[in-house]
Amino acid sequence: MDRTAQLTARRADRDIAYDPPPDDALHLRAAGVLEANWTGASTVPSRSLYPHQWSWDSAFIAIGLRHVSPLRAQTELETLLDAQWGDGRIPHIVFNPSVPLDAYFPSPDFWRSSTAGQSAGAPRTVQTSGIVQPPVHALAAWLVHCADPGLSRARGFLARTYPRLAAWHRYLLHRRDLGGAGLASVVHPWEQGMDNSPCWDAPLSRVTPTPARSFRRADLAHGAPEDRPTDLDYGRYVRLATDYRDGGYADGTGDFAVEDPAFNALLIASEHALARIAQELGATGTARHARAERLTAALIARMWDPAEGMFFCRDVRGDGPGGELIPERSVSGLIPLLLPKLPRDIATTLVRTMSGPHFGLGGTTRLVPSYDLLGEAFEPHRYWRGPAWFNTSWLLERGLRLHGERGRADALRRAILHTADASGFAEYVNPYTVEACGATNFGWTAALTLDLLHDHPSWDTNGIKELKGGNRG
Ligand code: SER
Repeated sequence: MDRTAQLTARRADRDIAYDPPPDDALHLRAAGVLEANWTGASTVPSRSLYPHQWSWDSAFIAIGLRHVSPLRAQTELETLLDAQWGDGRIPHIVFNPSVPLDAYFPSPDFWRSSTAGQSAGAPRTVQTSGIVQPPVHALAAWLVHCADPGLSRARGFLARTYPRLAAWHRYLLHRRDLGGAGLASVVHPWEQGMDNSPCWDAPLSRVTPTPARSFRRADLAHGAPEDRPTDLDYGRYVRLATDYRDGGYADGTGDFAVEDPAFNALLIASEHALARIAQELGATGTARHARAERLTAALIARMWDPAEGMFFCRDVRGDGPGGELIPERSVSGLIPLLLPKLPRDIATTLVRTMSGPHFGLGGTTRLVPSYDLLGEAFEPHRYWRGPAWFNTSWLLERGLRLHGERGRADALRRAILHTADASGFAEYVNPYTVEACGATNFGWTAALTLDLLHDHPSWDTNGIKELKGGNRG
């Protein structure tokens, strides 16, 4: 069967109407974005705004890239893991030495990883940031393996990556257990990935900003100021990062420590994936599955609010024993829907919340907004204070499908594909009008489009589906 016939047959199988454009045309355009953003060993999120390798971007990109080139997808993750620190952390940025220093702020001379990060085991040969990003990597590695198990085995892909991914999870579960409940804390808003989410407003208000005149932002040369975080936000980001760096990137002392539902849900999903990887390598994986279940219980105990019907961030440095919940509704509080062992009533409640007035899915919105439509801090254009993003919508599409919400998952899938295409693979969109914001030709938007086009049911009710055989298109 040729490629068009295969895609048509798959579409008929799924009984999902999605035209125009034909899937193969969209596939080619999405693959073209990943080709254009490929640097030879990894993929930039955006040639203009983000000209280096980003950690969670690379994981999402690998998940899509596996449908185009399983080899490139493996290389993407291997390049990132080559920059892992001795203490297990995977840095949020791996800098490309051929990109001028002033193309992105903060640049390598700000982070000074190889000197300031020496006692934490930062690599000497590559420059990186010193903070982390959400742990999507083991999940990505497993899905990349499943795309072509023959190639993966021949290259020893999982055998080489497993110890590194295990060290990464060890770092998060031990050094980052700042709340003492077994979950990981983020120590900077950039770590959670939703930089200027209103969830951080309260914990960030305790941080004295670095004066804006003392640093020079590069992002405003490429993005509209009203789509980006403010100078005051940046002042606080820079202060937190400076203090962390000046303390040798040691954990536990900073002013900012938050347990976030999405970050921890991704860690748990990745722990299930590590169990599958361990099984593939001949171990039982039982202990890891059991740990993932314990972490799911801890996530519910620490962050689930039954009255509000969603998860909330926990400010570990906030008042009260164990800190305090941050009463802001972020898409992060819906992401645990991707967990296979989530109790049925919680999954049902999350679906109701997602479709209710605060997120409007299927009513006033087609993609999931990053923040409460009714929240005081809501801004439809400004980065993570309202716009809809493709990675979070993809995670929720997977979660809806996992929990048997096929009709809603199909509608969200169609909306993601249509909006990605119509927006030129935008970084994020206004949740009401789906007008493009930020960069276009954005890496994970193109990659997750590819993943949905190939529609691999990546999660089943027991965890992550063990796929038999390759699926090279
Ligand atoms: N998202 C950040 C930025 O905008 C860094 O990770 O640069």
